[in-house]
Amino acid sequence: MKTLDQAKYQGRDFLTFQDYTQEELLYFIEVGRALKAEKKAGIPHPHLAGKTLGMIFTKSSTRTRVSFEVGMWQLGGHALFLSNRDIQLGRGETVGDTARTLSRMVDGVMIRTYSHDEVLELAEYCSVPVINGLTDLHHPCQVLGDLMTVQEYKGRIAGLKMTFIGDGGNNMAHSLLYATKLGMRVTIASPPGYQPLAEVVATAEAYAEENGGSVTIVDDPLEGAAGADVLYTDVWASMGMEEEAAKRQRDFAGYQINGETLKAAAPDSIVLHCLPAHRGEEITDEVLDGPHSVVFEEAENRLHIEKAIMALLM
Ligand code: CP
Ligand code: NVA
Repeated sequence: MKTLDQAKYQGRDFLTFQDYTQEELLYFIEVGRALKAEKKAGIPHPHLAGKTLGMIFTKSSTRTRVSFEVGMWQLGGHALFLSNRDIQLGRGETVGDTARTLSRMVDGVMIRTYSHDEVLELAEYCSVPVINGLTDLHHPCQVLGDLMTVQEYKGRIAGLKMTFIGDGGNNMAHSLLYATKLGMRVTIASPPGYQPLAEVVATAEAYAEENGGSVTIVDDPLEGAAGADVLYTDVWASMGMEEEAAKRQRDFAGYQINGETLKAAAPDSIVLHCLPAHRGEEITDEVLDGPHSVVFEEAENRLHIEKAIMALLM
């Protein structure tokens, strides 16, 4: 079992890449890969024996719920699924009171919800680590797992061009922009009116400057895809935007990863999608099921990276 260098991480939150240095982010990936190798070799790694994770969900989930729950079990601990529909938070108990109560019973809290500010508030009141399992603004666990996948398939992260095609204002685009902290060249191709938040772009530009990456925002998907090593897309209407779905279908027409996009990208490009996918909208079946796609390895890596995050923080 790999000995983990937990001292620097213990007790910290994982809310966005802003909380960690480049070196620290790379160490999560190193631990994720080591835990993956141990799992495949049948080597047990009970780093969290006797510990419990509370998981608050206000939105649906397949990968996030299963990866944290199974991951916690594989680490020797226990995870508790707390649907917002069932706990008192959903009936108006304050975030602060919920945080202070949970902190006395569990060793870490993972939350998936709408408002990023609510997660910041939870972290402020929790005395145990809080992990962001997706807000409207960010999805950092997903991107950390994605960068692990990039490292596995490309042998490196820094210097590669990653192009996201779709809603530049969503959680995935925002968190992918912070891959500049690891020296990536990140391009976002979105329709007018769906650009990333200016403050996220400014932060990403500062990371790029410091670490040799770059930030490019375009509205032409093929221009964005040109020479890309990694192509990325996500649904046109995220959770909570169901009412805008019809308008978005019109606004996002053409913002798709398809055979043409692959031709514009590097010949050995890989295709990522956080999933769930709307096949035939943001990505074709041909690409999702084709030889460039590594989306199910990417999904599996959520398990290994969540384990690395929990083992180091908790
Ligand atoms: N990618 C991701 O977070 O998937 P779920 O919504 O299924 O958790
Ligand atoms: N942008 C998507 C990501 C799902 C993992 C959503 O928020 O619904």
